[in-house]
Amino acid sequence: MGQNLALNFQNHGYSIVVYNRTEQKTREFAAKHPEIAAAYTLPEFVEALDRPRKVFLMVTAGPAVDASIVALRDYLSPGDVVMDGGNSFFQDTERRCQELAGRNIHFLGVGVSGGEEGALKGPCIMVGGSSEGYAKVRPMLTAVAAQVDGACCQLLGPRGAGHYVKMIHNGIEYGIIQIIAEAYDILSRGAGLKANQVHTIFGEWNRGILNSFLMEITEEVLGETDPETQKPLVQIILDRAKQKGTGKWTSQNALDLGIPTPTIDAAVGARNLSALKDERVKAAKMLRKPAKARRIGRIFVDKLEQAVLGSIIATYAQGFHLMRAGSQEYEYGVPFGDVARIWKGGCIIRAKLLDPITRAFTEQADLQSLLLYKELTRTLRKVEKDWREVVKVAKNAAVPIPAISASLDYYDGYSSERLPANLIQALRDRFGSHGYERVDKSGEFHTDWTAYTTV
Ligand code: 6PG
Repeated sequence: MGQNLALNFQNHGYSIVVYNRTEQKTREFAAKHPEIAAAYTLPEFVEALDRPRKVFLMVTAGPAVDASIVALRDYLSPGDVVMDGGNSFFQDTERRCQELAGRNIHFLGVGVSGGEEGALKGPCIMVGGSSEGYAKVRPMLTAVAAQVDGACCQLLGPRGAGHYVKMIHNGIEYGIIQIIAEAYDILSRGAGLKANQVHTIFGEWNRGILNSFLMEITEEVLGETDPETQKPLVQIILDRAKQKGTGKWTSQNALDLGIPTPTIDAAVGARNLSALKDERVKAAKMLRKPAKARRIGRIFVDKLEQAVLGSIIATYAQGFHLMRAGSQEYEYGVPFGDVARIWKGGCIIRAKLLDPITRAFTEQADLQSLLLYKELTRTLRKVEKDWREVVKVAKNAAVPIPAISASLDYYDGYSSERLPANLIQALRDRFGSHGYERVDKSGEFHTDWTAYTTV
């Protein structure tokens, strides 16, 4: 990704110098791209840069970022800018900003989305840091970013704001990928459709309201054949999903802030469950009769499309709800409409659906939930019936749909005036005297439950 980003800067007329800790890697890159200057030691690298220096770090998130900063910082001067383009945890970015600010060096946490292809052709760039630091690199970052209704690059707030928004982007990405995987499972295992039929359905969906990068690559992936076995490649891939942690961070942060993100949580949990392959194989033999595929018709495929749409809207709603809470908690002042706008290009979750989402925050910057935006409310009301039916069918066919199902529960819960939390409160008060509030008067109450006679 770092190499492609370097080429992208070069292609936009920026004169750059590349450096990698592993000399061999730098040599290989330099041999392929003799037009780009390469440095083999850090002092040589730093010396070759114009002042104020603009250093773009592309190293694995975690200790490697700290190690790079420690190695670099003594060669840098006040006013230089260091950008971290990895998937760093936003709290680490906060700490690094503070540390480098002590040396008057601007540290920007730069969330970059789009994978290797995006890095080369135009990623989405979510920046956090000081406006002074950003002003120095803005022209170069906006030049290499994707361009959809303007550059898909923006300063989203101070300190860790860029990496915070990138973390939520990835949480949403986890949710949507899981929803897509569940729809694929319903069609393949649940309904027994052949790979080419499922491939066609995803292609159709991508040309409709679900149009998005993830739908587009699902169609592409499902159309791929394994050259060795001539089977659809996806069927040869082991069903054990890996993860680097950004989805888990999103869920952990949501728990910390008390914001419900059940679709994202379900997606993380589903990856964890998939990782228990050996146990699942054993359990399948002990617990399960092979489920019979159910015949489905065109009408059900359309209903599934609606269920996927409802679930994806719920996922975006959860992500933005969390962003709102985080923005307040960490004093980021994230411009939500701009986030939705820059997500329209270059990033993994770019989708047609981001048009109404951008409109929602443009019309109402302080919108509490996307579920309350009239255009999306209308859509949700329309898809609701089909969504329920899909959940019913999948449950009866024993196809696990944790994300689609959690999304519907989220929708139902958020739109319920009354939830059974009254009973939760009563039980807490009964066993622990934790108190409760009443619907008819304000204040905190407690009942001596044991004084009542049981009937
Ligand atoms: C992006 C991606 C990118 C990376 C994911 C993969 O926006 O370009 O999100 O950051 O591919 O982090 O994450 P997992 O390995 O956790 O699935």
